Amino acid sequence: MIKKVYLETMGCQMNVSDSERVATKLVSEGYEITNDADSADIILFNTCSVREKAEQKLFTQVGRMRQNYGSQPVIGVLGCVAQLEGDTLFKRAPAIDFVLGTKAVGRVDVAIANALGQRDGTIPNVRVSDRHADPIFQTRVSPKFAKYIDLEEREIDYDWSVAQEQRQSKYVAFVPIIEGCNKFCTYCIVPFSRGREKSLPATEIIRHVLSLMSQGVKEVHLIGQNVNSYRPTTEEGLQGFKGSTPFSRLLRAVAATGIERVKFTTSFPRDFKFDIVDAIDEHENLCNWVHLPVQSGSDRVLKAMRRLHTIDSYKKKIDRIKSSPKDIALSTDIIVGFPGETETDFRKTVELVEYCGYDSAYIFKYSPRPGTPAYESYDNVPEDEKTARFIELERVQREVQLRRLQRYLGSTISVLAERESTKSEFDISGHSTCHKVVNFNGSRDIIGTIRDVRITQVKSNSLYGEVC
Ligand code: 5AD
Ligand code: SF4
Repeated sequence: MIKKVYLETMGCQMNVSDSERVATKLVSEGYEITNDADSADIILFNTCSVREKAEQKLFTQVGRMRQNYGSQPVIGVLGCVAQLEGDTLFKRAPAIDFVLGTKAVGRVDVAIANALGQRDGTIPNVRVSDRHADPIFQTRVSPKFAKYIDLEEREIDYDWSVAQEQRQSKYVAFVPIIEGCNKFCTYCIVPFSRGREKSLPATEIIRHVLSLMSQGVKEVHLIGQNVNSYRPTTEEGLQGFKGSTPFSRLLRAVAATGIERVKFTTSFPRDFKFDIVDAIDEHENLCNWVHLPVQSGSDRVLKAMRRLHTIDSYKKKIDRIKSSPKDIALSTDIIVGFPGETETDFRKTVELVEYCGYDSAYIFKYSPRPGTPAYESYDNVPEDEKTARFIELERVQREVQLRRLQRYLGSTISVLAERESTKSEFDISGHSTCHKVVNFNGSRDIIGTIRDVRITQVKSNSLYGEVC
């Protein structure tokens, strides 16, 4: 009988992208992916550890799965929590059958086969003493818990492609260009969960984009923790423009494939050079949206965060982005309540939000992550103060956002029709080049096409319009 897999993804785009490849692999190995956890033989959680709440979600979900399902599905934990916690997960949640780190996801089929084999007795229960019998067990079995664990590097021939059916959208695709992070911002766990920066060769990225185009994809998102720190080991596949950053040269090379739209995220402010904006200005298919996380409006806090930029240098980049004739939309991430953040520091963040006029901002309350340098600092902003700052900043951003969105009213913008709207059967939903959600009146048959839409209404988080 075909085994069914339920795969739940938490966290960032890289996890979403990894999950797409996990599903691709499993289907190619004869498994079926199901949205119904109830009927699943195997339950996988691709986890996030960037904030405590995200990590806690794993344990809540494992608990729920165990309570709800008498049949006791195989439970596997993948991703960042798996990488960081390793075999302690078996102790914290004994229902977990196997653990696969961030770079081991390509071997998910091996892990599942092992867990299933142990369940039905075809693979003898692994014991510490067996570890010498099979070389794989020597590195992939927790000696303490006799369960399968793989926290190793990617296989050399790791396949970065995704089957069309496993993508979130038929018309939009994620293309990883760099993984890991070398920046070690003091609050952040990512360099520990995802390891050092590793750029994919430009030739492989271009091949990936060309293949997606031939499948009808209209928009690619080049993704990575810091896309603009892109630094491949070879020049091959990069466009001329010697002296420019490898990332801006990659952008030009991807633009030259002729794909209709190219977006990229996330950018690291220190490495954000003006040549990126030049490339956007010169290539029509490089979209007018930049996500540039500032984290704080205070130089003092930025220094404690080890962000490697100052407010002055950040503002200069914002000014250049704003001077683009393409009206580039801006978004950011901000942390409130970092250890030592005073009311004065917070006021500077509010001021900066007003200065930059972000189209959107993801605001987070600081969450201490064990193992990070900031974890050692005293988390001295009381929880209710963090909440108050969070609420105030959200309010300020909402006002800024509403004001910013008004500029689209009456204008015509290009929208990729992606799906039927969930709110109305007569509406189609999609994204603009500036990455706004746009709903508009239209029939199903235009899905997958790019349309000019005249904006007639501005809502708090989206735009509404009519096809021209
Ligand atoms: N606490 C709160 N927010 C965090 N982020 C990263 N680490 C933490 C943390 N420890 C936020 C940053 C980052 C985004 C992806 O998550 O703003 O840009
Ligand atoms: Fe974390 Fe900083 Fe790296 Fe972003 S740049 S992933 S915030 S360490």
